[in-house]
Amino acid sequence: MCVQSKGGRTATPGGRAQTRVQTYYGRRGRLRTRRRDALARLLRGYGVEVAGDRLDPAALYGRQAPLVLEIGSGMGDATAAMAAGDPDRDYLAAEVHAPGVADLLLLVEEQGLTNVRVAHGDALTLLEQRIAPDSLAAIHSFFPDPWPKARHHKRRLFQPAHVALLRSRLAPGATLHAVTDWPDYAEVMLATLEADPGLVNAYQRWAPPQPHRPATKYEQRALAQGRSIHELVFHRR
Ligand SMILES: C[S@@+](CC[C@H](N)C(=O)[O-])C[C@H]1O[C@@H](n2cnc3c(N)ncnc32)[C@H](O)[C@@H]1O
Repeated sequence: MCVQSKGGRTATPGGRAQTRVQTYYGRRGRLRTRRRDALARLLRGYGVEVAGDRLDPAALYGRQAPLVLEIGSGMGDATAAMAAGDPDRDYLAAEVHAPGVADLLLLVEEQGLTNVRVAHGDALTLLEQRIAPDSLAAIHSFFPDPWPKARHHKRRLFQPAHVALLRSRLAPGATLHAVTDWPDYAEVMLATLEADPGLVNAYQRWAPPQPHRPATKYEQRALAQGRSIHELVFHRR
């Protein structure tokens, strides 16, 4: 068993410290006042710590409903739109980038969304520590950072150990929905998901565009730059 703290450090039972390689870019910069205020004001009501004991979703959302986890919600536009269009399910968005967390919190407030909570930090820590095995209705990973340089491939979200963690938190029959605009990463994602014995592809290789997933600004930019979109839908066995 490993115990992990906020910064991605793990402590093994023997006391050996390990640091997991981050799947995200460390970005700094001052937050504008509106976003800083949003984090200070809204994380209290809508925020979830990534480290800690197992979450009790019924207590968190005030009801029993299927729970969808989004890894890397970016600026939160797709998250808010999907949650608004899917009121019978609860959404938990994990994002390390503070401006994106702030923008999603503002969307949640403006739209009065009651089925969204936001975790500011590493989704892998959240999955390991706070999400019970066999519990999620779906995991979304839309445009995970591609880490194109070979020496950075170890930072990619879609690698066997991470996929095994994601799969372990899905309920039987639940969905793993991933999208990328990066052709070589798309092939790696497909091969990694197909190699996991607990997952089955819902389609032959690529999924058709899933109508419930709105295009984010990131996707619109990728299309404008001539990159094509590869979509993957797998189910947990
Ligand atoms: C290329 S962006 C895509 C954002 C959004 N899904 C979209 O489609 O516009 C990838 C995002 O994933 C976030 N990210 C990467 N690894 C993460 C992790 N382990 N936990 C939380 N967020 C992560 C990054 O901060 C970044 O905002």
